[in-house]
Amino acid sequence: MTPDRYAVVGNPIGHSLSPRIHALFAEQTGQHLVYEARLGRVEHFAEDVREWFRGGLRGLNVTVPFKEEAFRLVDQHSHRAERAGAVNTIWAEADGLLTGDNTDGAGFLRDLTQRLGFNPTGRAILILGAGGATRGLLEPLLQAAPARLVIANRTREKARGLQQDFADLAGGARLEASGLEDIPAGPYDLLINATAAGLGSDGLALPPGLLRSSGAAYDLVYGPAAHRFLEWAEAQGAGTVTDGLGMLVEQAAEAFAIWRGVRPETAPVLAAIRGSAGVG
Ligand code: ATR
Repeated sequence: MTPDRYAVVGNPIGHSLSPRIHALFAEQTGQHLVYEARLGRVEHFAEDVREWFRGGLRGLNVTVPFKEEAFRLVDQHSHRAERAGAVNTIWAEADGLLTGDNTDGAGFLRDLTQRLGFNPTGRAILILGAGGATRGLLEPLLQAAPARLVIANRTREKARGLQQDFADLAGGARLEASGLEDIPAGPYDLLINATAAGLGSDGLALPPGLLRSSGAAYDLVYGPAAHRFLEWAEAQGAGTVTDGLGMLVEQAAEAFAIWRGVRPETAPVLAAIRGSAGVG
């Protein structure tokens, strides 16, 4: 029997860890499938994706820079993709319609709560950045009922926009927006770096006192790009610091579970991926 085919599309795509992660999931759960990386063509993204599904592709993950375009291309959205305004997981329904979902936020929350043991309920959380990555986290974070959630962004208006878009989900949480120069005083229990910038001369300049002693710091990117933010957090007395590799594995597990109906164990896969070059 030929294996079911899956893929991840991005541009660039050469360094994607997704094929390895999904191969490890398939091996662990005994699923017969192949999962490959495909380079997306910026001018032809939508037609390529439709063609791949017509050709029998069972599921597709979408990464930078195509998540918003994938949102526009699919025929229907999951509720959480609608909120995120972006799609990272696609599959074809029996009638051929393409459904778009977004597993990033759920993957983040699972990594935060299960692996790091951080429960957001009643806590003060600061998110740096107000782009697509932040938008994807806001629904699951607000559903976890923090006491306070502050979105701080270089371009203040974008933080305000997110504050407005998610006000209906705030519940009892104080949902605030600021620029980077006037971040409301902490301390915060959790700092999330969701900007495309590291720290330093070309990046973020953060005041001391933001992070509660023994608080947690999470950078959504992984590998060396996360080092400066996490080193800064450690110097501030953080009790837990992590890059985004766990989130990457968890969002993949969420997609795998949707496609295959079986949820893989993530801890051994994260350990195997962490051991590989360039992501230590
Ligand atoms: P993503 O999908 O990863 O969130 P994005 O939508 O391009 O990517 O958002 C990038 C985020 O990084 C934005 O919050 C951006 O701030 P602006 O909205 O002001 O552009 C932030 N960012 C990028 N470079 C930055 C820098 N040098 N200093 C501070 N923030 C930066």
